[in-house]
Amino acid sequence: MFAEIGTNISLAREILENGDLVSIPTETVYGLAGNAFNPDAVIKIFKVKNRPSFDPLIVHTYSIDKVQEFVEEIPDKAKILMKKFWPGPLTVLLKKKQIIPDLVTSGSHLVAVRIPGHSLTLKLLSSLSFPLAAPSANPFGYISPTTAQHVYDQLGDKLKYILDGGSSLVGIESTIVGFEEEETIVYRLGGISIESLEKEVGKIKTILSSSSKPSSPGMLSSHYAPSKEVVTDLSEALKSHDINEVSYLAFKEYNAAVPVANQFLLSKTGSVEEAASNLFAGMRKLDGLPTKIIVVEFLPEKGLGRAINDRLRRASVK
Ligand code: TXA
Ligand code: MG
Repeated sequence: MFAEIGTNISLAREILENGDLVSIPTETVYGLAGNAFNPDAVIKIFKVKNRPSFDPLIVHTYSIDKVQEFVEEIPDKAKILMKKFWPGPLTVLLKKKQIIPDLVTSGSHLVAVRIPGHSLTLKLLSSLSFPLAAPSANPFGYISPTTAQHVYDQLGDKLKYILDGGSSLVGIESTIVGFEEEETIVYRLGGISIESLEKEVGKIKTILSSSSKPSSPGMLSSHYAPSKEVVTDLSEALKSHDINEVSYLAFKEYNAAVPVANQFLLSKTGSVEEAASNLFAGMRKLDGLPTKIIVVEFLPEKGLGRAINDRLRRASVK
């Protein structure tokens, strides 16, 4: 089997209704989607991604009314954020109803839910009688895909169809938010900044796990990783490598010490939004060059810069 790439929503729907998987475009990254109500389809997702079963999946749907069909309750602060940021790169953790299989949530009583901001995928979701469970469409631990071609390159032999919605505009995964008593907690930094969330609901707590087996949101310490070694300091790379063996992921200016052909610039104008949208494609490009090690440059630690730096840090963990 080799995946077909196209924009045929009825074909995508048919495959999903048969309990098979389709890769779907979203504004954050491409997802590997299956019927969230069907445990057999969910098992296929874990298999294709080679994902450990303790890492739960996000459920995607197209309206807040639909969310109410599979969650018990929505706290007030969750409602505020959902209304403000959906469709968009925000995922909320809510108490699940029984209709969501335990497999989806890895046994948790909470389910992660999101309405993605992508017209093609919203059209597909609204044509279905079930929501879609979808992790990022990459082999577990590797760089997330932001184009249909990225998905094809890594999972093309394990999929029937990749719905092509162009390059993901946001480019990094959704921000994951949970609600405990009166507190709003961010478990994964992502496409909506902490600053934007705090404008809506006040002070937010951040709990970013960095263990190798997190109890909370899939924040394994090593993740988003290219196959080459990644370090965050050029001088460290130069201890064991010649400068010609070094690739460099730069924020807004090339590093004068490294050959330009070995570099990728995230945003000439210094825009963090642009940098986020180019991040994973840049890492892939550098991973494909005939160099031996990748040096990544951190962005200023604010807004989306924080989410980008988080990805860079995890990519550099061995
Ligand atoms: O932007 C995104 O969120 C993309 C697109 C496809 O929607 N999806 C995505 O999925 O990034 P994934 O599987 O790569 O990451 C989802 C994270 C996981 O690390 C998981 O641990 C966390 O969400 N998560 C999912 N369900 C959860 C739950 N019930 N409780 C706590 N964390 C959960
Ligand atoms: Mg992922």
